[in-house]
Amino acid sequence: MATTSTCVPNTNAILKPQKLPVNFSNHLRSSHSNLASRVKMTSFSMSKVTHLKVSQDAISLTSSPPRVMVEHDLLIVGPGVLGRLVAQKWRQEIPDCRVYGQTVTTDHHNELIQMGINPSLKWTEATHQFSNVLYCAPPSRTADYAGNVRLAVLSWNGEGSFLFTSSSAPYDCNDNGPCDEDCPVVPIGRSPRIDVLLKAENVVLEVGGCVLRLAGLYEADRGAHNYFLEKGIVDSRPDHILNLIHYEDAASLAVTILKKKFRGQIFLGCDNHPLSRQEMMDLVNKSGKFSKKFDKFIGTDGPLGKRLNNTKTRQVVGWEPKYPSFARFVESIS
Ligand SMILES: NC(=O)c1ccc[n+]([C@@H]2O[C@H](COP(=O)([O-])OP(=O)(O)OC[C@H]3O[C@@H](n4cnc5c(N)ncnc54)[C@H](OP(=O)(O)O)[C@@H]3O)[C@@H](O)[C@H]2O)c1
Repeated sequence: MATTSTCVPNTNAILKPQKLPVNFSNHLRSSHSNLASRVKMTSFSMSKVTHLKVSQDAISLTSSPPRVMVEHDLLIVGPGVLGRLVAQKWRQEIPDCRVYGQTVTTDHHNELIQMGINPSLKWTEATHQFSNVLYCAPPSRTADYAGNVRLAVLSWNGEGSFLFTSSSAPYDCNDNGPCDEDCPVVPIGRSPRIDVLLKAENVVLEVGGCVLRLAGLYEADRGAHNYFLEKGIVDSRPDHILNLIHYEDAASLAVTILKKKFRGQIFLGCDNHPLSRQEMMDLVNKSGKFSKKFDKFIGTDGPLGKRLNNTKTRQVVGWEPKYPSFARFVESIS
């Protein structure tokens, strides 16, 4: 990987939260501490929860679980592809834990129940609090992402971990140059799409939660390569550099962070093997392991990408990916 930096390193930004206006953060802190102290005074009692009937099939939880289980409770807001993998790993590593999932619709509640996840549309709207919260719902289906994240923050009792999965998009680098955790982010006001992410991140960081900025997620039939395969001809430039992380690796990184109870830090999740769109689709075509063939990129302009490196995150968290590159993943497909 290239070592010349085109992102001006900002040492203050290293794994540090962005600041919010004082009045807002004070409000959030005080709401949070009020709720946190309230939950500490009351024992965990599912009989107090008012929304258990949201899903008729929801697992019946009527008695107070032992303390050890409360400590390992995990609420996953957005138990989609990543959230379910996290739930699976969490349950493997902490067999007695309880995992809760909050969705927008009841469409997948039966699937979630089969996986041992207690689903609801409203976990974060009730008075109940959780020791561990993973917010991994995408921003696409709500007009108030930061507001949704704020509700989730208020549902955290502050004891375990709160982790929000953001994106690497906020890093202000679009010349295919190197970029790591210290790279400055796009200033608020330049991009509405990035503002949404940064504002949500700030809600989390201000109460001591952590942010995991993820590169492009993929698995065999999901991700950028799959999108390009479906289209065949794509009106984008081929030399744009992409950064990837396999869903399983993003899940293992999220679980490792959650278990270590970090506070107010920003982590970066990527495989440290950036590649161009063309290189990615060449790997797909040459592998002979996909049923479709990619044709070509026909774009000639548009922004370039960045070359992500998360050495610092790996050192701080103590994590390595199972799939060190997209090339190695493709080789591993049987
Ligand atoms: N895909 C990428 O390349 C990429 C890159 C960087 C970061 N990320 C981030 O990684 C995370 C995980 O992505 P993913 O691909 O696993 O997501 P996903 O599978 O698309 O997530 C879908 C799940 O989220 C639920 N959901 C959607 N909006 C919600 C909301 N406002 N409140 C509550 N639940 C909501 C859906 O509920 P229903 O069951 O009702 O549909 C479903 O359970 C997201 O935070 C995403 O922004 C993704």
